[in-house]
Amino acid sequence: MEYVLLGNHPSIEKIRELITVVSDTAFNVLITGETGTGKEVVARLLHLASPRRNRKFIKVNCAALPLTLLESELFGYEKGAFTGAERFKPGKFEIASDGVIFLDEVGDMPLVLQAKLLQVLQSGEFSRLGGTKDVKVNAWVIAATNHNLDKDMREGRFREDLFYRLNIIRIEIPPLRERKEDIALLTDYFIQKHRRVLRIKERFKLDGDLSKLFHEYHWPGNVRELSSTVLRLLVGDDPDTIRLEFLRNMEADGFPVDKNTISVPREIVEPSSEEESRAPESLRSLKDLKAQATRHIEARVIRHALEATGWNKRKASRLLKISYKALFYKMKDLGIENRQQ
Ligand SMILES: Nc1ncnc2c1ncn2[C@@H]1O[C@H](COP(=O)(O)OP(=O)(O)OP(=O)(O)O)[C@@H](O)[C@H]1O
Ligand SMILES: [Mg+2]
Repeated sequence: MEYVLLGNHPSIEKIRELITVVSDTAFNVLITGETGTGKEVVARLLHLASPRRNRKFIKVNCAALPLTLLESELFGYEKGAFTGAERFKPGKFEIASDGVIFLDEVGDMPLVLQAKLLQVLQSGEFSRLGGTKDVKVNAWVIAATNHNLDKDMREGRFREDLFYRLNIIRIEIPPLRERKEDIALLTDYFIQKHRRVLRIKERFKLDGDLSKLFHEYHWPGNVRELSSTVLRLLVGDDPDTIRLEFLRNMEADGFPVDKNTISVPREIVEPSSEEESRAPESLRSLKDLKAQATRHIEARVIRHALEATGWNKRKASRLLKISYKALFYKMKDLGIENRQQ
């Protein structure tokens, strides 16, 4: 896996600078930004730039586990700590010792555990569940969230004292729509990257209209959405489908569509009320259409990934950045048969 933070926008240049400065210090870092803006990339780069680069980088997704599991995941437990604790299990804080513990989605951590985490950060020690011995924390704590923590604190969902502990150094990544000058650069980068992975020899270029729309679009899924859109185009998705989807998303999210610079596909023009009254039953809801289009696209991308990897599901799931299990279920759901080579 390669980790790069591309961009010429001053905010990104500043983040790259900050990474080199902060990585020497091991001060707690809080990375904030909307989904897909590159928070994990920044965390990985901090690790790689630091003297801890040869030590572990342990990621804990604080949103993925229920309270008790998350607690034992972070702090571990002693044998017999609770029913089913048949042997000692070290926590991620211990495993990450001298390395990095990346608390991803920290804004989703339950309040009870926020209190425990605060206490651990304050004392620099913790004890395993069911344990009495204190274990020293040596891990460098890097946290990330896409929440607006100011709002969460005001509304009592996030502890202010914990916020100040985590927020020693703050790295805030702006959404892609606020650094539009980087869109073209990132588009070219993802074209090259996906061509390489998919072993596509032919050159590829966005047509003028789509390239304008890429610039106008508000990219709610940020860099990740840009990457997957480029991938969809490379595997042969119809550019008009994507244009239509973008224009609809912009409308739905209240972003103005400049009809002078972007030609609007015919399908998006509203039917006249006469047409509507003539055939209301033939008009499917936008949601249905979108769901159907998504399934169609998913099936194509998955088939392509499977073809590219000789139907090796493990490799294909890595290519698609989903878990093996998720790929398995998706294949089943979409009716894609296994094909042995
Ligand atoms: N500036 C960038 N240059 C190159 N690639 C980037 C950049 N920012 C993000 N990416 C790529 O975009 C994808 C999403 O990035 P990442 O997983 O770091 O986002 P995130 O902020 O952690 O998202 P989420 O909140 O959804 O977890 C990754 O494939 C990453 O490599
Ligand atoms: Mg992430």
